[in-house]
Amino acid sequence: KHVYEIAVVHGDGIGPEVCAAAVEVVKAALGSGSPLRFTEHPAGAEHFLKTGQSFPEPTFQACRAADAILHGAGGLPGVVYADGTEAGLDFTLRLRFELDLYANIRPVRLFEGVQSPLSGVKAGDIDYIILRENSEGLYAARGAGALLRGEVAVDTLVQTRVGIERIVRKAFELARQSNGAPRDGVRRVTCCDKANVLRSYAFFRSVFDDVAKDYPDVATEHALVDAMAMHLVLKPGHFNVIVSENMFGDILSDLAAATVGGMGMAPSAEIGAANGFFQAAHGSAPDIAGKGIANPFGTILSAASMLDWLGLKHSDEKLSQAAERIRRVTQACLAKGLLSADLGGTSSTRQITHSVCDRLAAAA
Ligand code: IPM
Ligand code: MN
Repeated sequence: KHVYEIAVVHGDGIGPEVCAAAVEVVKAALGSGSPLRFTEHPAGAEHFLKTGQSFPEPTFQACRAADAILHGAGGLPGVVYADGTEAGLDFTLRLRFELDLYANIRPVRLFEGVQSPLSGVKAGDIDYIILRENSEGLYAARGAGALLRGEVAVDTLVQTRVGIERIVRKAFELARQSNGAPRDGVRRVTCCDKANVLRSYAFFRSVFDDVAKDYPDVATEHALVDAMAMHLVLKPGHFNVIVSENMFGDILSDLAAATVGGMGMAPSAEIGAANGFFQAAHGSAPDIAGKGIANPFGTILSAASMLDWLGLKHSDEKLSQAAERIRRVTQACLAKGLLSADLGGTSSTRQITHSVCDRLAAAA
């Protein structure tokens, strides 16, 4: 029988709390015959403080060899290199670039029971995907930019035809797959850029338009990123799949998260041709670390995406079904008011995790 090796890295701050919660939930969803084997490996800012290494080579090898990677959160403010960048982010950023995890899929969904700060929206009204290009763009300059005489700093934004093409194709495929079609029932991909000002984004748009010709069944549109920030607040129900350059996707996905309950409700999946890396889009939240009050749903929903991805890759329906059960139970728990402090509730991480697991056990 097939065993799926899952490399687990807890990371920093609330990372260990939310990661442990997600592992428990996955175990409960798959029951006694679970084909997943979890192995923990160190990385992050804490590890850097202890050992001088933020991302040990054996951890990298284990992640590359694993069937999937599950991460809590990384980084601590102040734990920085001489250039001022954070050591604890090495794990996430090096995995993205060294494993070529080009597609960062960030579902934005308002669950019943969660209050949006937007007026007049209810569960189901907000249900779209931000597809963030994860292997080039401005982030590709990390560690490669120039600092001249300590006075002039330069980072370069890189966009390649191959890189744009593959992320845009992914966007159209996601639009075709999505059952949560937008309010007006149209499958739609929105190309988000700044084509009016910068060459690199004009190129992104022109490649988008070329690729779009292969998907005549999907509606397309363009939106400039500044206008997009406004649209995500004023008409979030319009969107289905939004595709964007790395940095823009980073910024917009936090804005989007705010409309559906905040960073605690922001799952994410980072996918390449061979590897899959799953972690919530939030940071390590050191201010609430160790208090047992972190919202685990971002990581739990990311772990559900991991099961989806593994299930699809290995044609293993049991995994996809477990993913679906996790989402259903999440929905039920939130609707019943099982809310952590960030959502205005009083439930602890443990209480939430136990309730989710109990319901999964009952559903199995
Ligand atoms: C994210 C995070 C990361 C990023 C950090 C942790 C490197 O903010 O996944 O959105 O900037 O991409
Ligand atoms: Mn981010």
